[in-house]
Amino acid sequence: MARVFVTRRLPFDALDRLREVHEVDEWPGDMPPSAEEMQAGVAEADGLLSLVTDRVDAAVIDAAPKLRAIANMAVGTDNIDLEAAAERNIPVGNTPDVLTDATADLAFALLLALARRIVPGAAMVRDGEWRTWEPAGDLGADLAGATLGVIGWGRIGQAVARRAEGFGMQVIHSSRSSGVPLDDLLARADFVSVHTPLTPETRHLIDTDVLARMKPTALLINTARGGVVDQDALREALHAGQIAGAALDVTDPEPLPAGHPLLDAPNLLVVPHVGSATVRTRAKMAAMAVENLLAGLDGRPMPHPVT
Ligand code: GLV
Repeated sequence: MARVFVTRRLPFDALDRLREVHEVDEWPGDMPPSAEEMQAGVAEADGLLSLVTDRVDAAVIDAAPKLRAIANMAVGTDNIDLEAAAERNIPVGNTPDVLTDATADLAFALLLALARRIVPGAAMVRDGEWRTWEPAGDLGADLAGATLGVIGWGRIGQAVARRAEGFGMQVIHSSRSSGVPLDDLLARADFVSVHTPLTPETRHLIDTDVLARMKPTALLINTARGGVVDQDALREALHAGQIAGAALDVTDPEPLPAGHPLLDAPNLLVVPHVGSATVRTRAKMAAMAVENLLAGLDGRPMPHPVT
C-alpha cells in the first residue's frame, strides 16, 4: 500500500478506486495548499495527484523523497517542473483528450459572447438601461464568412476549427509545424483563438507586436494559459482600440487580484478558468488521473504519460 497526497477534495468516484488499494491523504482546504503546505503534504507521499492550481516545482519534488508518480488532473503541465521530475525518474501523467470538446465548446462560447456582445447586453437589460430595439444598436460581428485564426494546432485548436466550420467560418491556423505564418494569420483573422501550451517559447507570444498586427476589428480568445498573452500589452491594445475585444478563460495570475488594471480594459470578458468544467469531463479527468497514478505506483507505464 502506497501513500498518495491529493491536493484537493475530489467529489468523484475515481478516488474510491485509489482508496481501495492505497492510503489517500486529501488536502482538506477549499483553497489550494500553499508552497509550504505542498511540501509538508508530499513529505511521506509515494504518489501525488495535483491540479493546475498547484506548483509542483523542484522544491516540492525535493521535499518528497519517496515520490514515484505524479498525476496532474489537467492536460497542461506547465505547473510541474518536468525536468526535476525526470531527474528523479518520476513519471508524470496528464489528462488529454477527455477535455477537448468541453474546452473547445468554451472557446466557442467566448467567441460567440464577444461577437454578439452578450455580456454587455445582458447587463444593460438587468440594469434597466435597455430602452428600445434600435436599428443600429448593439451591433456585433457575423460569424458566417468571417475568418478564424487558430494559433496552435493540437486537439483543442482543431476541435475549435470544426465548430467554426459548422458556423460557416473560414479557418486558418498557425503552429510550429503547419499552417500559415503567424503574420499572415494575424493580418487575415477576424477572430484569433489561442491553443498553445505554455512553454518558455510561447510565454507572451501574444505581445504588443502581435496585437498591433491584428485587425482593429478582430477579437482575441484565450482558453490556453494566461502566460501566453502579455496582459499589459493586451490592456494597452484594448484601451487604444487596437483590437476590438478579448475573452479570457485564463489569466496570469489566477485569479487576477481585485482592482488588477487589466480588469478595467474595455471590451474584455474574463471567466474563471472553466474550459474543462463540465460534470462529465471533470469526472473523466479524475478517473484518468487515478489510472495514471495507479499505473505509476505499480511500476507500470502510465496510460497517459507526459513525454
Ligand atoms: C486545464 O486548464 C487543463 O490544462 O486541463
